[in-house]
Amino acid sequence: MSNPTPGVRSGDVAIPAIGLGTYQLENGVAQTVTEKALELGYRHVDTAQIYGNEQDVGAALAATGVPRGEIFVTTKVWIDKFAEGDLQRSVDESLRKLRVDQVDLLLLHWPKPKPALAETIAALNAVKADGRARAIGLSNFPSALMQEAAALSEAPLATNQVEYHPYLSQKTLRATADKLGASITAWSPLAQGKVGDDPVLKAIGDKYGKAPGQVTLRWQVQQGVVTIPRTKNPARLEENFAIFDFELTDEEMARVYGLARPDGRIGDWIDAAFRWDVE
Ligand SMILES: NC(=O)c1ccc[n+]([C@@H]2O[C@H](COP(=O)([O-])OP(=O)(O)OC[C@H]3O[C@@H](n4cnc5c(N)ncnc54)[C@H](OP(=O)(O)O)[C@@H]3O)[C@@H](O)[C@H]2O)c1
Repeated sequence: MSNPTPGVRSGDVAIPAIGLGTYQLENGVAQTVTEKALELGYRHVDTAQIYGNEQDVGAALAATGVPRGEIFVTTKVWIDKFAEGDLQRSVDESLRKLRVDQVDLLLLHWPKPKPALAETIAALNAVKADGRARAIGLSNFPSALMQEAAALSEAPLATNQVEYHPYLSQKTLRATADKLGASITAWSPLAQGKVGDDPVLKAIGDKYGKAPGQVTLRWQVQQGVVTIPRTKNPARLEENFAIFDFELTDEEMARVYGLARPDGRIGDWIDAAFRWDVE
């Protein structure tokens, strides 16, 4: 089967608009869920060195009948591997666990004051230049730092993976990514399940026979945002992927944007040296 998921143009690659998030899928669960997701049509899997499940995602990639070339695999370099040399060695370890020669997208997981950003961005570019990563990018970088990273990078930075759901605006960062020809990828796109009880999302979904989670994921992909919901529940896995057969009106899109609130952020900073964009 050819790739059924629309792609979001991001730097020099197209990232499948929806992927499977694998945070906290531990003790082999990531293998079962990834295999099921691939069977259902997902063609994008998001993991990270720190999740401790790259080997389980790798086992799924080895077991599935879906050709490697059809699957977009993202991993993230953890913050203790940001020095020249350490970063490259950590990527070799990721490739070994994932059982692939190349990842499609390699991200810096969180910004760090040390080593200098220039050193880490150079190491990231080296991994792309020698083919171990098809594309490179960031995660959890606020706007000013994303621009600084882009200016330091020879290759385009494809995406910035950040918390994004109806309760968190990310207006500034979306505009910055757009200006740089990059995308944003929404982590905790379902606000860790909280959207399921939202009356506004429910009312919008009722018109289309869709659940609040589906309205949320549709709202993200309809803006050109990549989304990576996580579930270990096979029924929800299927439900979360069924978002390409309806379209929200401009008025409905605006109603979802209107749910953003100042205290909507869920995630905490890893490093107090950084501050999020105000809006
Ligand atoms: N770059 C970063 O720093 C960073 C940080 C956090 C996350 N991430 C990535 O983003 C992915 C997604 O974020 P997340 O895992 O934090 O949260 P999420 O996808 O927003 O929410 C996952 C939670 O929502 C539930 N859920 C799934 N589908 C649902 C639906 N349709 N309706 C209602 N509830 C639903 C799941 O429970 P069940 O399993 O019971 O369905 C799970 O408890 C992660 O897995 C990871 O790959 C990246």
